[in-house]
Amino acid sequence: MKKLVTIVANLGLLVGMASADVASDQKAFIKHFKTIFPNVEFADYTNGVYAVDQGSREQFEEILDGIPPYEEAVEKGGKEYLKFGLNKCSSLKDPAAARVKHPYFDEITQQVVTLESAIKKCYQQRTGKKLGSKKGKIARISAWISDQAAGQKINVKVESAGAKAAYEEGKVFFYAKRGQFNMSCADCHVYNAGKKARADILSPALGHTTHLPMYRAKWASMGTLHRRYGGCLKNMRAKPLKAQTEAFRNMEFFHQAMSNGLEITADRYRK
Ligand code: HEC
Repeated sequence: MKKLVTIVANLGLLVGMASADVASDQKAFIKHFKTIFPNVEFADYTNGVYAVDQGSREQFEEILDGIPPYEEAVEKGGKEYLKFGLNKCSSLKDPAAARVKHPYFDEITQQVVTLESAIKKCYQQRTGKKLGSKKGKIARISAWISDQAAGQKINVKVESAGAKAAYEEGKVFFYAKRGQFNMSCADCHVYNAGKKARADILSPALGHTTHLPMYRAKWASMGTLHRRYGGCLKNMRAKPLKAQTEAFRNMEFFHQAMSNGLEITADRYRK
């Protein structure tokens, strides 16, 4: 059995299926958004809902012009990065490179490694303690690390058969209907992007991962991408999942790959 799996996996590699799919998935993704938002430039998708809604854009720009509410937290994250010796772990010693490298598929563990999972691992090695996954220190440190890569582009690579399988799982999760409302992530953030859901305008999934961790007015604090995933699952009345579980890491792998070529931004504010 194992042999058969290996043969099939190698075949996939041979015909170059692994990386071709991501490129064609992203092409279709971008084409869809181009159709519903013909006037939005590709680079502007880093701004989430503000790229597609002029009214809230003005508020956003006002906030960025003042002292953004995340500024202090991000600065603190930089101090914590040093205080806990995270610069001593090879995975994080060059913070800008670390943001650009993650998420990636680790061939040894056959798992997607996210930036936050790398921070958690390093923190535990350095301090002997566990770090949370959603808010507080992890969000501050991850935001500071990401700031060091601001202006560089997301460039998720999905190359091996294992990586491809994780990517496919993540993609399936993103498109699967679930919860009491029988909705998928794509129902809101692909097909209905730009439309209203109660008091909110739905952001396009393209560019979703460029500014996280973020400060959210509703949270009145910083949170990671997986904190937001958890919140959206709750809104869907779906079964909750823990941040950094395999299902979320795989979804992040797909989700970030769809934003390949977009700039990582330090404008970490959302309503
Ligand atoms: C019922 C509609 C709905 C569904 C389904 C939904 N979300 Fe959301 N999501 C929202 C709303 C509303 C917001 C806040 C406004 C915005 O940025 O879109 C949001 C925000 C987000 C954000 C933050 C966007 C930003 O620019 O900061 C991410 C990331 C996200 N959702 C991911 C997901 C994922 C992944 C799923 C599937 C697990 C999902 N959402 C399912 C309604 C939804």
